[in-house]
Amino acid sequence: MKKITTPCKPDYKKQIFSEGLNYFATGKKSIWGSGDKETLKFLKKEKIRGKWLNLAAGDGRYNLKLLRKAGFVIASDIDKSALSKLYQGTPKEYLPKLRIKVFDITKRFPFKDSSFDGIFSAGVLHLFSTQILKKIVHEMDRTLNAKGKVLIDFATDIKRVSKNGELIVFESEPQYKLNEAKKLLKTAFKKYRVKIHELRVFEEEFKAVDKQYNFSCKGFLLVAEKN
Ligand SMILES: C[S@@+](CC[C@H](N)C(=O)[O-])C[C@H]1O[C@@H](n2cnc3c(N)ncnc32)[C@H](O)[C@@H]1O
Repeated sequence: MKKITTPCKPDYKKQIFSEGLNYFATGKKSIWGSGDKETLKFLKKEKIRGKWLNLAAGDGRYNLKLLRKAGFVIASDIDKSALSKLYQGTPKEYLPKLRIKVFDITKRFPFKDSSFDGIFSAGVLHLFSTQILKKIVHEMDRTLNAKGKVLIDFATDIKRVSKNGELIVFESEPQYKLNEAKKLLKTAFKKYRVKIHELRVFEEEFKAVDKQYNFSCKGFLLVAEKN
């Protein structure tokens, strides 16, 4: 995949929460930092085999962790520039088992039923309303095979504070609280064997994103196995 420098403009009304960035002007590291320590640790020890979908993978801070263990990974996002940075930053030896797919997570996923052994999603599902979230879970379920596994890193209690102390909230952002989100996801995956691991409070300063801000959140990791 070639370098794509054209930014993907956000459109909150259409549920497109992209950053509107040329990702090649953001340095080599992910704009989202190195990732949540517990999520990284978890990815290291969790059994990850077969074909995986990395949903809304962004510029790829977790993608190599999946690629090292899975047989094949499809990294997806609405933002071509983010995905092209992910691709360009992937060591050559892993490229034969990486495919890139641009699509909108709120629409029907462009894959056949039972396409994946696993689906990973980090730092994105909290942006969507309960109704849209249920639609996304439906598509995960449809495209996951009979013994598939879902790994979700879900952020709650999000606080973004700008340099001048203003609270930043995205238009239409649901602002989930920890217990409410845990209950919601447990219900959405009620036919699955579900384990939830609460994450410690996460704090980071995001410098490369459009509006610079300090970010803090609670959250949890959900592991859902299809029976
Ligand atoms: C906070 S970033 C997280 C990226 C990555 N999962 C990670 O943890 O580093 C959210 C990502 O969701 C993508 N995104 C936002 N709205 C989307 C939509 N409707 N469909 C697909 N991707 C979307 C953005 O482009 C962005 O890359």
